[in-house]
Amino acid sequence: MSRGVFITLEGPDGCGKSTQSRMLRDALATAGYDVVRTFEPGGTGIGRRIREIILDTKSSGMCGITEFLLYAADRAQDVHEVIMPALAAGRIVIGDRFFDSSIAYQGYGLGMDVEAVRAVNAIATRGLIPDLTVLLDIDPATGVARATGDRDADRIEQRKLEFHASVRNAYLQMAADEPGRFRVVGVGDRSIDQVHAAIRRTVFEFLQARASAARGQSQPGAGEV
Ligand code: ADP
Ligand code: TYD
Repeated sequence: MSRGVFITLEGPDGCGKSTQSRMLRDALATAGYDVVRTFEPGGTGIGRRIREIILDTKSSGMCGITEFLLYAADRAQDVHEVIMPALAAGRIVIGDRFFDSSIAYQGYGLGMDVEAVRAVNAIATRGLIPDLTVLLDIDPATGVARATGDRDADRIEQRKLEFHASVRNAYLQMAADEPGRFRVVGVGDRSIDQVHAAIRRTVFEFLQARASAARGQSQPGAGEV
């Protein structure tokens, strides 16, 4: 059986990843794909406990390295328990955040050595790289306001707007550096349904192109001059 497809949604807080990753999962399932959704931090039972420690405002004394390693630990468990088994079974996995979040938030946002962040993530993910990453781009003030809504901000959301602005700029730079993997969908003042339509178009086009390429490869002599 061929390996499944790994699609991630990334973006600043409140850009709509949770909403959109659920809608995308449902759209793919309706179209007949075998699809599973996961999220970070907290996509596994162990991960949920790690998430509580990271986001609790009582963890205010947590240093950046601890924070970074906890996200990596959560990711390692998600890869081990959810993502790798689903890909091995040929399923589509939709990840609401993956290692790009650590590069944007801990690397560029907190100012940690980006190469070190990549190196530790390569261990946590066992070298797994998403096939497609959809970046939902949003102005950080709108995003944080949407993410918090009526509830109190968590430890990361409480950071200054400059932190969230540097996360957003990092994401845009990362997308420009890897145009083959990233697609940027601007949220702006588009409705949830409008953003969904843009993501859906992007993902279905990607899956169709991938299926055509696979068919071409499996035909003996195809592509030969
Ligand atoms: P994230 O997972 O990126 O933090 P959510 O999907 O949880 O984002 O969305 C945060 C809040 O913003 C939710 O209340 C959601 O209903 C709302 N929201 C999401 N997308 C939009 C949109 N395009 N326009 C208006 N509100 C939105
Ligand atoms: P998430 O649950 O996706 O929050 P939101 O829905 O508000 O975007 O992620 C929780 C917080 O964790 C969010 O502020 C982003 C942060 N985060 C990192 O800083 N590094 C990481 O590697 C990950 C996965 C998340």
